[in-house]
Order: sequence, then C-alpha cells, then structure tokens
Amino acid sequence: MPSLTDPWTLAAVEIPNRVTLAPLAGIGNWFVRLQARRHGAGLVVSEMVSSYGVHYGNERTCTELLRIHPEEHPMAIQLFGSDPAVMASAAERVAEAGADIIDLNMGCPVPKVCKTGAGAALLRDHDLAVELAKAARRGSGLPVTVKLRTGLKPGDEDGFALAHRLVEDAGVAGLAIHPRHASQQHKGTPDYALAARLVDELPVPITISGGLHDAATIRDVFDQTGAAAVMLARGSLGNPWLFAQALGLREDEPATGEIVDELQWVMDQAEDHMGSERAGRYLRKFYPWYVARLGGGKAFQDTLQRAEGIDEARSALARFAVPMPA
Ligand SMILES: Cc1cc2nc3c(=O)[nH]c(=O)nc-3n(C[C@H](O)[C@H](O)[C@H](O)COP(=O)(O)O)c2cc1C
Repeated sequence: MPSLTDPWTLAAVEIPNRVTLAPLAGIGNWFVRLQARRHGAGLVVSEMVSSYGVHYGNERTCTELLRIHPEEHPMAIQLFGSDPAVMASAAERVAEAGADIIDLNMGCPVPKVCKTGAGAALLRDHDLAVELAKAARRGSGLPVTVKLRTGLKPGDEDGFALAHRLVEDAGVAGLAIHPRHASQQHKGTPDYALAARLVDELPVPITISGGLHDAATIRDVFDQTGAAAVMLARGSLGNPWLFAQALGLREDEPATGEIVDELQWVMDQAEDHMGSERAGRYLRKFYPWYVARLGGGKAFQDTLQRAEGIDEARSALARFAVPMPA
C-alpha cells in the first residue's frame, strides 16, 4: 500500500508525494501555490481560469492568472469552458506559460459557470466534455486531467459514466473526484465509498478531494479509498502547515511567530503580484484565516480589513506581534 510520502507520476510528470493543493477560485494564484509547495505539497493546481479569457487575451487573465513561479513546479493550470476550439487555443497558451499539466473543471456548480455549459454542466454533456479534453490535449501537448463530481443531484451517477469516457475516449492522464453532488456545493459529508469505486474501476491515478481538513482524516481517506493522491482545499486556507502534517513532517501546530512570519510572507508576495493598494484589498479574505489562528481579536481584524494598503496592514501585524508597552 503506497504512503502519502511516496512519489508518483501523472503521464510523464513526476510528482514527489501524494498531497496536493486543490484549485481554489479567487485564491489559488502563484504565491498561494508556492506557499503550499514550500510546506511540502507535491503538486499544486491553479484557481480555475476561463479558457475564453485566455483565448481572447484578457490582460488580467493572461498576466495574473497565468503567472507561474519558477519554484512551484510541478503545477497544473485549471481551465474551464465549453467551446473545444477556444479550449485548444487556451491550452496552447497555458503550455507556453510553462504549466506542466492542464486540469479541466467539470465540477463547478456556480450558476454563472454552468449556464455557459461549463463546469458541472458537463456532467450531463459527455460528448462535449470528451471533445474539450481532446482539444486541451491537442492544443497543449501536455497531460490533461479533469476534476469532476459524482453527479449533479443526489442519486445521479453521471460523473461515473463521464469519468470512464474521459479516460477511454479522451485519454486523460488522471482524474480528481470531489464526491459530493453539485447541488450540495461544498456542504455535507463526501461519499468516499463512491470515490473508492472509481479508483477500482479506472486505470488512471485518481485524486480525492473533499473534507480533508486534518492529518488523521487525510491519511484515513487515502487508505480507505486507495486513491493515488489527496487534494487539500478549505483545510489549507491560512493553514499551509497542513501539508507538512499530512506528510508526517510535523505534528505540532505553528507557534505565533511562525504564523506572523507566514502572513508577512503572504503580504510581501501579494504586493509583488498586484501592488500595495490592490493587495491590501485582495488580502481581506485571507486575514480572517490567519487572525483566527493567531487568536487575534476583533479590533486586530477590523484594522486589517480597513487597511488602505499593504504597509498599513504590515504595521497592524507588527503591533500585534510586538505589542506597544502600556
Ligand atoms: C473558495 C473555493 C473555491 C473553489 N474553487 C474551485 C475551482 O476553481 N476549481 C475547482 O475545481 N474546485 C474549486 N473548489 C472546490 C475545491 O477544490 C474542493 O474540491 C472542495 O472545496 C472540497 O474540498 P474541501 O471539503 O476539503 O474544501 C473551490 C472550493 C472553495 C471552497
């Protein structure tokens, strides 16, 4: 039985261990991925990126979402879309940007995505899903993986039939399964038994996503399902230490100084990525994760949320780390 620390391969891509970072929309940019790699993740996947945005050369999509740090490899860019020609063109551009793998989103339940025929809508349009996967392979020349759900509603097993077709007809290199139905969004207990069935049925590596929020659960689900790898999502938000804990590289929780240093690192990278003012706003969704872990109070959180730019947020963090003498 493999261990989470064992290497594996996705097509020809060598991955040093079996703990991976999930795609997280609005969050999984290069520095969040680099952070996960620094803390041990074997593979990191980008937030979902619109194939249309890439194909039509949308500036922010191409400069910010396709930005890849040299030290984050192996990494995958996740694309979503519903037009094979556009997908092939976007995949070509993603390969030029330096991705090692292209992942396709066939599980996003958000209406804005589904009503265009992309994301979880593809669970019901298998012919189109196969064409999209073939187009991504053709356009990029890279291994293509797909992240999908078991179905749209409880009782549906569309995800199973689609998974078979993606492997058998489109030649995808691997799949990530989030065994909650799209109608559950991210709530409820994932059905790991369904995921284990997919692992049994298919010859490609299957990665499990869903409910993996602590090291004991991660190891248990990995063993129970026989999956090739696990994918950490909400459990890793503001908690990159979970990668090392899952890999058995550490057991303890981070000390205050480590958390402060980590948040400072995040602030530095965000400023590099988008400048002080935008970074100040962008990190507002990140602060609550770190403040909770630091045991910081409402006043500290409010100051971070109100900070005009990164310098103001840095000062608030410095005051928290070394309180002024009374
Ligand atoms: C804020 C947020 C953003 C997400 N964005 C994406 C995405 O861009 N692509 C995707 O395939 N899944 C996305 N997901 C789903 C996660 O990758 C993951 O499958 C899901 O959260 C279940 O794992 P968890 O229970 O450990 O959080 C997102 C989930 C959350 C909470």
